[in-house]
Order: sequence, then C-alpha cells, then structure tokens
Amino acid sequence: MPLKASVSRAESNGRLGVLLAGMGAISTTLIAGIEAIKQGVGRPLGSLSQLALAPDIDPRHPVALSDYLRLDRIENLVFSGWDINPGTAYDAARRAAVIEPSLLEQLRPQLEAIEPMPGIYDPRYLRRGEGRRLKPETNQYEQAEALRQDIRAFQQRHQLRQVVVLWCGSTEVFSTPGPAHQGQRIFEAAMKANDPSIAPSMLYAWAALQEGCAFVNATPTLTVDLPVMIELSEAHRAPICGKDLKTGQTWLKTVLAPGIRQRMLGVAGWFSMNILGNQDGAVLDDPAAFRSKEESKLSALNHILQPELYPELYGHLSHQVKINYYPPRGDNKESWDTIDLLGWLGYPMQIKVNFLCRDSILAAPLLLDLALFSAAAQRAGRGGVQEWLAFFFKSPQVRAGRPEHDLSVQYQHLQAAWKELAEAAVGVTA
Ligand SMILES: NC(=O)c1ccc[n+]([C@@H]2O[C@H](COP(=O)([O-])OP(=O)(O)OC[C@H]3O[C@@H](n4cnc5c(N)ncnc54)[C@H](O)[C@@H]3O)[C@@H](O)[C@H]2O)c1
Repeated sequence: MPLKASVSRAESNGRLGVLLAGMGAISTTLIAGIEAIKQGVGRPLGSLSQLALAPDIDPRHPVALSDYLRLDRIENLVFSGWDINPGTAYDAARRAAVIEPSLLEQLRPQLEAIEPMPGIYDPRYLRRGEGRRLKPETNQYEQAEALRQDIRAFQQRHQLRQVVVLWCGSTEVFSTPGPAHQGQRIFEAAMKANDPSIAPSMLYAWAALQEGCAFVNATPTLTVDLPVMIELSEAHRAPICGKDLKTGQTWLKTVLAPGIRQRMLGVAGWFSMNILGNQDGAVLDDPAAFRSKEESKLSALNHILQPELYPELYGHLSHQVKINYYPPRGDNKESWDTIDLLGWLGYPMQIKVNFLCRDSILAAPLLLDLALFSAAAQRAGRGGVQEWLAFFFKSPQVRAGRPEHDLSVQYQHLQAAWKELAEAAVGVTA
C-alpha cells in the first residue's frame, strides 16, 4: 500500500519524515543545524520558513510565516536517508568539515544515531566517486522497489504523518530526456531491462513518487524533469519542484541581472568563476558532471536578459562559468563575477563581485524550507510541479512555457502561493 499524504491525525503523532538520498555535506549540515537549533545553540538564519513573516500583515501585529502556513515544527522532523558509502551522519559531517568540531561533538549523539540505508550506485553516472554500501539488487526495478520498501518501513517505524524525499547525492553526469522517460509503462519496462538512460537519482524519485512523497532535487541532474515523473507526481498528488539549489553565485546573478535589464544597460560579457574544495567540487572536476552544473548555472541569465527581445543590449553576450576544484578551501567557496556593462553611447563599464561564501551553510536552510513548503503544499492537495517554488532553484521547473528566474518576481509568486496555502491550510498544529 503506498504511503498516503493524508494519514489522519488519529493514526499518527503528526511527525514529518525527511529522507535524504545522499548523506554528504549539505544533508548533514541540515541535520546538524536542526539539532543545534533545537538545543538552543544555533539560529536558523537564511530560512524563510523559520524567520519570515506572513505577507500583508499589519506590522503592529506580525505573524510568523510558520504559524500562518501551519508548517511542521522542526521538533517534529525525523531524519533518515541513504548513502552509497559507509558511516553515520556524524562521520559524514566530520568529513565534510562544515560544522566546527566543538559544536559537532555536542551534536554527536543525535548524528551518530542516523545510519544511512544502503544506496544505489551506477558508475556511469558518478565517475569521480565510489559506491561501497549498496543494495544487493542488480535490476533497476528491484532496486527501486527496495527503496519503496525502505520508505514504508521508515514511515511505519516512526509513525509519520508524511514523508518528504530530498535528492542530495553527488552531481550525476549530464543527460537529456530519452524514450525511456516518456511515460510510466515505458519507464517501468526500461527499469526491468536496466536501461542505461535511467540514473540512480531517477530511481529514488520514482520510488518516492510511487509512495506519494513530495520529492525535492537539490542537484543539477535531470531526475524529475521528465514526463514520467510529472505524470507520477500528478497521479499521486506529490509535489516536485526544480533542479539545483540557488545558493550563492546564481542567487546574486538573479538579483543583479534584473536591475541591469530594467535600466536598459547592455551586457557584453559575464564571466563567473569559482573555487571550491569540498567533495562536490571533486565530483564537478569531471567534465561530464560539470556539464550538468554548467547548464543549470548558465540558464538564468538568458531568461532574465531576454537577448531575443533586446538583441542590441544582449545579443552578443558572452556568458562563461568555471568551477575549479581547489582543496585548501574545503566547503568555503569563493566566487568572482566580472560583468562587462555597456552604458550611454556604448561606453564600457565593469562590475566586480567577490563572494566569500560557505556552500553548505547557504544550502541547508533552503533544504529545510523546501521540505516544509512541499509538505504543506501536499497537505493543501497540491501535487505535480510547484512553479511557485522557483525562488529556491537555479533551474526552476515549469509545467509548460518559460521558467521565471528574476528573484524578485519569484518572491512575489512565493508570497501569492503562501496566501493560497494559508487559505487552504490543511496544516498541523504543534
Ligand atoms: N553545497 C551547495 O551549496 C549546493 C548548492 C546547490 C546544489 N548542490 C548539489 O547538492 C549535491 C550534494 O552536495 P554536497 O556538497 O552535499 O556533496 P557531497 O559530495 O558532500 O555529498 C554527496 C553524498 O551523496 C552520496 N551519493 C552519491 N551518489 C549517491 C547515490 N546514488 N545514492 C546515495 N548516495 C549517493 C555520496 O556518497 C556523498 O555522501 C551535489 O549534487 C551538489 O551539486 C550543492
């Protein structure tokens, strides 16, 4: 029996399960952060679900967004997940070296209690990595069925009202939709035939959607951006929403570019470069994996500047994105943007942006928000593609037409959806 979003309050204690497929830097920074916040030794900075106020509210009587939408409380989250390599969430967090050692030791018991389940690995999709703790099944269909079994067992063990699955595994090599991805029957037959166009992330997505779980793709890989997944997410009323968290450089790009276009300034070039030294950086050192990231990083600017409408301003734009793996920096990414602007009479100008950020520190609050908003959307009866969640993604997903990339327009859409969700509010009380 598939897990249903509408398990009644009487049947459960109202907890939300969060399954992380891939228990590396961003997943463990999320879990450690939630534990730190629960223990009162950290604050949820960067999280809309925890800090934003309800829209259009009298400022003399502000209402927290979490109350307005009746979001799940962080005390009611239960974490588990899968990984293809051994170790607990504590071991992975220590390897990722995002959380400082003294805080990590304080959170150790909670993190050590989370032992990811064996995952699914395909070396064709992850060439700069290895898989050492894997499910025994060798057929993709059976692997996906085993994942469904894991989801059901997790839900029953913790008596969860709802489960959300977040794909946080390493970036898979670039791929495009193929014949196997066009519909449920074809996809199922393709899994049984171990079709090489089916990536592991698609098996997690298929299993989650079959179980009626909302699914979030934190990575740039294709995963749910496929007809079969849209069909499943609508059939099972399970939200899906986009690709690749909009954390650092692209977030700033989608803030700056709309302002440049609104002033009708030209752009001759936008050169974006990054150095980072975490495991994600090592994986992206493989050109085939980087291609997935590059596609997702490049897409925003064209959509915002619209060179087809303004050929004089943006028709010759040279947009380049580079990521260099540079181990000394670990998770502390540094990015440089050089923007070659054209002003009155075509005179050139430059903007330089140098962002010294922390990759997973930016990503963790987005993961939390996406888990809570997806769960709330599902309770309000919304399945399929959630275009209003574009705010959080480098590559937003749309049912049809062009995705919106301008951050301020995305924020307006977010607020409009919050109002609809608040009206529908099928939330939970603490
Ligand atoms: N850190 C950021 O700011 C950020 C922003 C946007 C997107 N992302 C994306 O999020 C993903 C995770 O980033 P990270 O920094 O946590 O990477 P990471 O390398 O620290 O963690 C990835 C984890 O996934 C596991 N894994 C790989 N393939 C798997 C599979 N098939 N099944 C289960 N587990 C699998 C790995 O063993 C590893 O533990 C990457 O794809 C990255 O591009 C990260």
